[in-house]
Amino acid sequence: MGSDAFQPIQGMSDLAHPEVALWQVLEQRARSVFALYGYTEVRTPVLERASVFLRSLGEGTDVVQKEMYQFTDRGGRELALRPEGTAGVMRFVAGRMQDLQSARLYYLGPMFRSERPQAGRRRQFHQIGAEAIGAPNPRTDAEMIAMQMHLLRELGLGQCRLRLNTRGMPDDRARVEQGLRDALEPKLEVLCEDCRRRWKDNVLRILDCKQPGCRAVVAELPPVTHWMSDEARAYLDKVGALLGKLGIPFELDPLLVRGLDYYVHTVWEITHPALGAQDAISGGGRYAITFDRQTVEGVGFALGMERLLIAATAEGADRWVGEPFLVWLVPMDESLIDEAVELAQALRLRGVPCQMDLGGRSVKAQLKAADRHRATHVVLRGSQEAERGVYQLKTMATGEQRERTLAELMTDLVAYHRAHLAA
Ligand code: HAM
Repeated sequence: MGSDAFQPIQGMSDLAHPEVALWQVLEQRARSVFALYGYTEVRTPVLERASVFLRSLGEGTDVVQKEMYQFTDRGGRELALRPEGTAGVMRFVAGRMQDLQSARLYYLGPMFRSERPQAGRRRQFHQIGAEAIGAPNPRTDAEMIAMQMHLLRELGLGQCRLRLNTRGMPDDRARVEQGLRDALEPKLEVLCEDCRRRWKDNVLRILDCKQPGCRAVVAELPPVTHWMSDEARAYLDKVGALLGKLGIPFELDPLLVRGLDYYVHTVWEITHPALGAQDAISGGGRYAITFDRQTVEGVGFALGMERLLIAATAEGADRWVGEPFLVWLVPMDESLIDEAVELAQALRLRGVPCQMDLGGRSVKAQLKAADRHRATHVVLRGSQEAERGVYQLKTMATGEQRERTLAELMTDLVAYHRAHLAA
């Protein structure tokens, strides 16, 4: 590969043909599914005041403490590259609450987290996310999950696993934390060092610790709903019942906590077996986020596009992008190049994809290029054809070659292209 000077910085990637075609299909399908549910796109800046994330995601979370790209700019402002999309969108909504109190918004774009790069974990990654603004309503949560599962089904992802839990209501939080602390206190010496620290300042995170010793302790705990109000439990039951009616399979996972502080009520995660340790292709939940005394409530999710594409590739994403239709013009004489340029343009203006070599190379080199670009049709014209006012139209799949006048050539190619699009 040679010099590092040609590489992007660690944990970030260049994206180009041919992989970019899958990204485009993913984006298009997401846009069309979101439109069915009445969502419109919002594009917020990649760079925000750091405070937008500090307060909403939570100062004690890993994302804020260890992963956020935060810096002071030349004007002395504390800024951060967005580590996720929800906080910026909520900042936007909070400033326009009158108009946006029941907005349904989606976004897609790059996010940044300074994590140790590994499979499925990048420093610049991309999310597709959606948010529905409004007071807690289990129907909205179920519809949000249904929309997400609809998108995954459209993408042919049949092996996804949906896990569901609740964070309870804000009043439940203190009771859950105290309950967990009391239950874990006698086992403190068995927990790992990180969890002993978490016991004091972030006890919920002990539930998703991966250390075998901690997992064994956690397996003995009652589910978090044990310490919650009847109302919080009823809310989760209602979301589950609606998902059942909508035919969406899920598992209740009392250990699912999610890594961000803004969640209340429903939380969920979707995993896929084709991914390794980082197996969450998506996470979401209901939240309440306050900016400058304005609280925004809503529910949403974000899909990691890189991870989704790893999963989709394992489930046959190569079928997403069909064989291209391409006409390649081969003028066999220097004097015929300019008129071929005109013909190419006339075909493109009728919507037919067409290319040619503009450099006056040999017929053999031109045919090779047509082959390399997987042309479906080749149009040859030499001085003999020019004298007789005709073209040779070759269909590459069958090898059939026919002589056509200009009018016939145009009619045929437009018709072939239409048939290709309809297939
Ligand atoms: P999150 O779970 O932090 O949630 O991220 C959502 C998804 O982004 C993950 O499931 C994963 O697929 C992907 N992801 C996260 N970090 C990385 C990384 N370093 N490299 C590659 N992919 C990654 C959120 O971001 C919330 N804003 C979701 C949400 C929206 N909750 C409510 N509304």
